[in-house]
Amino acid sequence: MRLTLIGAGPGDPELITLKGIHALRSADVVLYDALVNEALLEYAPPVAERVFVGKRRGSKSYEQEEINAMIVLLARQFGHVVRLKGGDPFVFGRGMEEMRHAQEHGIETAYIPGISSAIAAPGLAGIPVTLRGASRSFWTMTATTDTGELNPEIATAAATDATLVLLMGLSKIGEIAAIYAGLGKNDLPVAVIQDASLPTQTVVTGCVRDIESRAHQWHPIRPAVVVIGGVAGSEFAELKN
Ligand SMILES: C[S@@+](CC[C@H](N)C(=O)[O-])C[C@H]1O[C@@H](n2cnc3c(N)ncnc32)[C@H](O)[C@@H]1O
Repeated sequence: MRLTLIGAGPGDPELITLKGIHALRSADVVLYDALVNEALLEYAPPVAERVFVGKRRGSKSYEQEEINAMIVLLARQFGHVVRLKGGDPFVFGRGMEEMRHAQEHGIETAYIPGISSAIAAPGLAGIPVTLRGASRSFWTMTATTDTGELNPEIATAAATDATLVLLMGLSKIGEIAAIYAGLGKNDLPVAVIQDASLPTQTVVTGCVRDIESRAHQWHPIRPAVVVIGGVAGSEFAELKN
């Protein structure tokens, strides 16, 4: 009776760890999210149950409590539950909640890290989150708080020279740009990377002043990472190539 939480990476099925694949091979049940590439399910034994628990239009979406309960139930019924999550399970993935719930119910747990979109999406667009002489640090945050308000930490980060990597930030891009504009940073580069690592990957670049007006260039639904900071600008193009 055990749970293995695996980071599936940003989307390209080759961006999972070998350790993750080994664990998948011994799964009795796999619970997976919407951002997980279904090609990875091939690594699970043919007899293993495959259960989609993500949010997708037209299908039932599970509450976190339901998923926690399913993990316990399925581990008791089948043995080894593998929980496949996009990116890294501990980066805005609620991985720890699932682990703790399982542990409280006497289930052994293990964590296998994954490549987070927070680093991979910028990187695959040629944007290093840190760069000697250009970016000393980077902050990763979501655009909104649990209650749906704009994350107040964006304003704190905007006042520094750090690279800001925003997950789930596209719908708030106008408000976020306004914070930077209010600090006189209208020309600061911004990049939006969608479907990072997939054949459909797209990158839209601009600056604080014009990024919102470029909204027609990206898809409103597809997952996106927004990067704000000097490293997202073309002046680093030579270093990027
Ligand atoms: C619930 S969070 C999960 C993050 C995930 N645990 C990680 O480490 O990448 C989902 C958000 O991650 C970002 N994301 C995940 N995969 C992505 C991809 N392939 N391209 C762009 N953004 C991605 C988007 O901001 C998306 O809305």
